[in-house]
Formats: sequence, C-alpha cells, structure tokens
Amino acid sequence: MNSRHVQSSPMVCVIAGDDAAPEVMRPTVEILRLLAPDIRFVEALSGREALEHYGEAFPGETRERIDAADCTLFGASGGPSRPILWYLRWGKETYVNVRPVRWYPGYLSPMLHPECIDYVIVRDNLEGMYPPREGDVRELGALSSSKSWWQAPPIEKRGAYAVRVYTDEQMYRLAVAACELALRRQSAGYPGRVTLGAKYSILPRTDGRLRTIVMETVHAYPSLSYQEFLIDDLARRLIAAPETLDVVVLSNEHGDILADVASGSIGGLGLSPSACYGEYYAYFEPVHGSAPDLAGKGIINPTAMLLSGAMMLAHLGYTEQAQRLERAIEQTYREGVNLTCDQGGSASTEEFVEAVVESVVSMK
Ligand code: NAD
Ligand code: IPM
Ligand code: MN
Repeated sequence: MNSRHVQSSPMVCVIAGDDAAPEVMRPTVEILRLLAPDIRFVEALSGREALEHYGEAFPGETRERIDAADCTLFGASGGPSRPILWYLRWGKETYVNVRPVRWYPGYLSPMLHPECIDYVIVRDNLEGMYPPREGDVRELGALSSSKSWWQAPPIEKRGAYAVRVYTDEQMYRLAVAACELALRRQSAGYPGRVTLGAKYSILPRTDGRLRTIVMETVHAYPSLSYQEFLIDDLARRLIAAPETLDVVVLSNEHGDILADVASGSIGGLGLSPSACYGEYYAYFEPVHGSAPDLAGKGIINPTAMLLSGAMMLAHLGYTEQAQRLERAIEQTYREGVNLTCDQGGSASTEEFVEAVVESVVSMK
C-alpha cells in the first residue's frame, strides 16, 4: 500500500470501461494531463470496443498494457469489461479496497448533519463471497455430515450454494492496511480509531476469525483504538452516528454494500472514489458502476472518477497536484453554480468539468 517513489515519469494504463464510464474517464484524463504533464497515459481497449477491435473483451494487448504500467485507472464494468476487473483484482492481487467517505459543502446529502461524515472504508478486495464460487446444492452431499455445520444443507432439494472463503494471510494484510491508514490519518488529526463490522456472532470461523485478527492487529499499535459492531448495527451507525467512525474494516461483500450506503449518505454514487492497493500494483476506480441509465446523455457526475484520479496522483507521489485537484473540486461545489443533476444542478458533465479546470488553472 506504499506510495510509489517516482524516479522516471510514471506510466498509467487507462481503461474506460462500459456504458457511461468513458464519459467520466475522458475528462478525468484531460485534467490529470493538465496537472501532471509528465505522466504517460496509455489507453487500453475494453468491453465492446475491444470485442469489435480484437474479437475478445479482454485482449492480450490490454493485459500487456496493464502489466507494463505503474498502475491503472479504471472506469467501470457494466458486464463486458468484467474479465478486466477480475484481472485487476485477482490477477494483480490488489488486496485492499480503500473507499473514503467524506462530505464537502455543496454535496446534496440527505443527512441532517453531513458535515460530520469523514471516514474511510477499508474493504477486503479478494475473498469472502467474491470471486463467485457457486454450485448446485447437491454437490454439498460429500460435506453434509460436517460437524462444524449448524445444520446440514438440504441436499435432497433443488437449490444452490455460494462459498465464502477467508484466509488468515488476507485478513492480516487487510488489518495491517487499515491500521497503517489509521496511523497516517491520526498524524493529520483524526482519532486513530479502527472499527470492525462483521457477523462474528453467527459466523465464528470466518467473521469471528476476522474479528480476532483485526482486534489483535490494532492492539499491536499502541496509539490506535479498536471498536467493533455486528454488521447490521454498523449499517445503522453509518446513518445514525457517522461522526464516531474513522477507519472501518469490512469483508468484501459487506464493504461492497455498505460503501454504496455510505455514498448515499454524502450525496450519491457520483461522489465516491476508491483505490485498490496490492503489494506490487494499484488501480483506481470510482465506487459506482457503469451507470447504463445515464449513458450517452452527457450528464453523469465525474466527481467520483476525478477523486479516484486524485488518489492515483497521491499514490504516484504527486501530492501537491492531488491536493490541487481536490481543492478545485471543493471550490466547484462551494460555488454551486455548475453542478450536475444528481447534485441538484443542471450542468452537463462537460460544464462541471470546465468549472473544475478553471479552478485548477486559477490555482497555478
Ligand atoms: P451504478 O453504480 O452503475 O448505478 C446506480 C445508480 O447510481 C444509477 O441510478 C446511476 O445513474 C447512479 N450513478 C452511478 N454513477 C453515477 C455518477 N457518476 N453520476 C450520477 N449518478 C450516478 O450501479 P448499477 O446500476 O447497480 O450497475 C450497473 C452496472 O455496473 C452493473 O453491470 C454492475 O455490475 C456494474 N458495476 C461495476 C462496478 C465496477 O466496475 N467496479 C461497480 C459497481 C457496479
Ligand atoms: C464494486 C462493484 C463490484 C464489487 C462488482 C462489479 C463485482 O459492485 O466495485 O463495488 O462488488 O466489488
Ligand atoms: Mn459495489
């Protein structure tokens, strides 16, 4: 999860993705080029475009460009680009997904006091319920006498199962990533509090093990504090008491779902960035999907994609440029005159981006 120490100009692989995702990727790369002209952006085709050009949705050339780059900026998959998303996660072992949840003045939040929302979800990116491992319930026949099962599966009935796998190795590195992030935030004035949300009451072998590992890991950092809640109660707290949260550790599927809840609390999916870090690779993508309902309309909010770009700049060592981009976005929301319709405005994606560019340029 360490930032890259830039020696030569870095190379970024750009994969726009499906449906409306290219409409946020295009302006994001333009702004990133403006902020950091020495970064080399190399585009790689995905999804339908790749199918048309190469006859496959994940061509070898796209894989080579991902591998050759220092990191990847990814739009979103609406289905066709899914094999690429799989490769970016499992192929490149990007084991932790960091999803900041922060309200800025001007974000159209449904909450009474959105100003107290400023925490980060640290989500397992590789295990739990994803990748999908499903099958026919009858396949469980060989296991149905397992003593550790509360109830044998009904193999005589028609049905299906899904497998949820946790390994100690992944849980430890997830916990360490959360603690390191909490430490960094603490030096910037945050409380240094790691919160675990899981169903450890019902799933002692998986969520219970995650609980033990996260608790023990946090206790090895004397300046950090630990708190835990059952996942259903934590879901309530995201809405009822977000001010009590700093760094929140969640399993893959819990993090997937609660990241969208958290996003809703600040004003919607158009606003939520994310970063996926591994030991050797990182990629950056918004929390939202390919927004097929918005495709071709020119009104999708590019904030989440832009902020993911800012996380990438910080990762590549362009700290000042990352801050400048964040401040330009903040200023655009504070002014409130060029906001997209999801934020109560009437601006197009392009008009919003123009306002951010103006703000970036005025800060030079
Ligand atoms: P979605 O996030 O694409 O859209 C959900 C809702 O949020 C829609 O109403 C959409 O219009 C709105 N929305 C999303 N992004 C927005 C933005 N930037 N500005 C304004 N409004 C925005 O989720 P979905 O509709 O459930 O899924 C669509 C596709 O995206 C599915 O194929 C899903 O699997 C995929 N998906 C991919 C990723 C990823 O690539 N990491 C993430 C989530 C969903
Ligand atoms: C996300 C998405 C993905 C996930 C899907 C597309 C596999 O919802 O990045 O949040 O669940 O991780
Ligand atoms: Mn999701």
